[in-house]
Amino acid sequence: EWPKKVTIKEVGPRDGLQNEKEVIPSGDKIAWINQLSKTGLNYIEISSFVNPKWIPALADAFEVATGIERQEGVTYAALVPNKRGLEKALEANIDEVSIFMSATESHNKSNINKTIDETFPVLKEVVDEALTANKSVRGYISTVFGCPYEGSVDVESVIRISENLFEMGIGELSLGDTIGVANPKQVQEVLEVLLKRFPAEKLAMHFHDTRGTAMANILVSLDMGITIFDSSLGGLGGCPYAPGASGNLATDDLLYMLDGMGIHSGVNREKLMEAALFIQEKIGRPLASHQLQTLSNC
Ligand code: HMG
Ligand code: MG
Repeated sequence: EWPKKVTIKEVGPRDGLQNEKEVIPSGDKIAWINQLSKTGLNYIEISSFVNPKWIPALADAFEVATGIERQEGVTYAALVPNKRGLEKALEANIDEVSIFMSATESHNKSNINKTIDETFPVLKEVVDEALTANKSVRGYISTVFGCPYEGSVDVESVIRISENLFEMGIGELSLGDTIGVANPKQVQEVLEVLLKRFPAEKLAMHFHDTRGTAMANILVSLDMGITIFDSSLGGLGGCPYAPGASGNLATDDLLYMLDGMGIHSGVNREKLMEAALFIQEKIGRPLASHQLQTLSNC
């Protein structure tokens, strides 16, 4: 039986825009996030407080976080890699802090310049201080289903990192298919293992749609009781430190399927498509989502 209600976490302003070569002006990002805030989405990941040399497209995280109109009932989150990022994020009064690391050594190293074990104390400090400041914390694990450098990934590594992050005090863990290689059978196998240790309400799925398997992976996850999904409007996105990573599953495509199945997300499709058309125009090329392509073909 499918869940009746799910939460869609919009990561487009962060995961979507982080990979864009042409930097979108802060004013356009703010206008887009303000639009997203009125679609019924209750969670928007707006930017990253990372080293701007690593992610130039999100160098304006502070301006964006302080420039948007906060809508009541919407959680505004941002990625934070270390204490330095946390200080800025708190100054910008972000609602939720997202920490992130990878299940594989080589991806962790290329993404955040540390080994897995070196990463734990850095993140623990972030979690401790964020919780002290009364912020909730979300954790991400990347390369859960495959790594651009190491290929297949040992689920034991995912378990070990999950346990460490929950022990630190994260409220929710998002499992990333960073390079979009997962298939439904694999998702089922990994979730079977993780659901023995952690409740479904604490797990979110973060699929990239590089090879067209994201929606099938969503369906299997729904079937296993997962109710939180990350997606990016229009299918924008990718990870700059994962060669070949392309966009996240498109929020508009996800919503179409959920609506059709009678699974409630609270998101209004018409308003969402307006926001999709807005960002597509700012990006200046057709985006990948099926819904946007359908609009322009009919
Ligand atoms: P590092 O170079 O090892 O850091 O980078 P460091 O502590 O040695 O500092 C070096 C310089 O960075 C110093 O500046 C610091 O001040 C500065 P300098 O003295 O050289 O001028 N610095 C900072 N500046 C601004 N904000 C900060 C900050 N920290 C240090 N927070 C670091 C380590 C983690 C900072 C770096 O590797 C980094 O910024 N990485 C970000 C990578 C990233 O954002 N990747 C994409 C997001 S993850 C993702 O997309 C996957 C996900 O979607 C899930 C999935 O799909 O799987 C979440
Ligand atoms: Mg991602």
